[in-house]
Amino acid sequence: MAIAMHQSGNPASGEVDKHAWFSRDRLGLFIHWGLYALGARHEWLKNREELDDERYQRYFDNFDPDLYEPKEWARRARLAGMKYVVVTTKHHEGFCLWDSKVTDYKATNTPCGKDLLTPLVEAFRAEGLKIGFYYSLIDWHHPDFPIDVHHPLRNHPDAKALNAGRNMANYAAYMREQVRELLTDFGRIDIMWFDFSYPRREYRGLSGKGRADWESERLVELVRELQPGIIVNNRLDLPLDANTLPDMVTPEQYTPRVAPTIAGQPVRWEACHTFSGSWGYHRDEDTWKSPEQIIKLLIDSVAMGGNLLMNVGPTGRGTLDARAIGALEVYQNWMALNGRSIYEAGPSDYPVPSGCRYTQRGNRLYLHVCDWPYRHIHIEGISDKIAYAQLLHDASEVRWLSHIKEVDSNVGVTVPEGMITLELPVRRPNVTVPVIEIILKP
Ligand code: GLC
Repeated sequence: MAIAMHQSGNPASGEVDKHAWFSRDRLGLFIHWGLYALGARHEWLKNREELDDERYQRYFDNFDPDLYEPKEWARRARLAGMKYVVVTTKHHEGFCLWDSKVTDYKATNTPCGKDLLTPLVEAFRAEGLKIGFYYSLIDWHHPDFPIDVHHPLRNHPDAKALNAGRNMANYAAYMREQVRELLTDFGRIDIMWFDFSYPRREYRGLSGKGRADWESERLVELVRELQPGIIVNNRLDLPLDANTLPDMVTPEQYTPRVAPTIAGQPVRWEACHTFSGSWGYHRDEDTWKSPEQIIKLLIDSVAMGGNLLMNVGPTGRGTLDARAIGALEVYQNWMALNGRSIYEAGPSDYPVPSGCRYTQRGNRLYLHVCDWPYRHIHIEGISDKIAYAQLLHDASEVRWLSHIKEVDSNVGVTVPEGMITLELPVRRPNVTVPVIEIILKP
């Protein structure tokens, strides 16, 4: 019930919802991989350091991921409980992982000499994951992409003059050609993830970019024609109202306080997050999130009806570094025992005890105990509905007490009226976030 409420943008009732899988699967892997992995100091380094093409060329000339094993990435993702992958086919730097016919700026022309996308798609599909393509609308390498606020040459003294020779319509046509390749040559693609628009970001007389520049309507039309079942994200600056909701919205690096809506309508959504701060491989970054934090990011999303797309930035050798592997294993360990509270689950309308989060699937209510209390959790709203309760990770019974009107002394536990009180072990079980599965009477 709760899930259906959160599947907006659905076809009229009676039709099969082609996108329903997305809200069942809940957890995906984001992969940011490109030349910036060699710089190893953020995927925006070309922008941040205002590097021109010539100075950025060293990463292209030295790109040789000799240890690339996409089967290994795919296996780890599946073990982590991830059900789909979204990979940067081209990020803002403009470099393409596949053998695009319309550019030379691609993996096949680097020392690596190979199309990197085909084996990745095959490997993830073989592990049973659905496939999503991230495609950057921004392109800091294409000669027709006009310099703007985010472009590495934004402070170039001749930026405006340089733009005179750049033709945005050519670039928009180039994007359509690339998207046509991506959605024709790799079989069924489940998600198209465009990034991103900034129509109002004017900078020193250089205008921002939005739907008129990308020719977003044409682009999306093409996507839907080539892959009718696909989910398209919301970063194309398309007009929004209650009748034209995007397939999904994509809050980035924050947890919404309430489930997102558009024009008062609930909308399908997916939060995207990094294990550390950067999306691309960052050698020296020291802001890796704790196991509790990354599990809570998932729980928080599902408890509000959303998905989580969790990112790794592989190295220039083509490996996942030890920190990324460790973080994936946090999901692996937790999901192996607690995945039941995540897949096909959604928000619950029951009032949630403090320090906890609920998810619900049918008559199963999942109480995620983020702050382990001392011995008791008092729960409102289910006293006449609870049939059984257990810790999910080991199926050990959790007993509960009900309210009694007359309490003889202050020695026993007093259960507030209208509540039940779960009796918990004093020590928190050794689970990153313990979950109590409450089975409600049908
Ligand atoms: C941002 C950044 C980018 C990253 C993306 C993921 O828009 O530009 O580097 O790929 O978010 O959501």
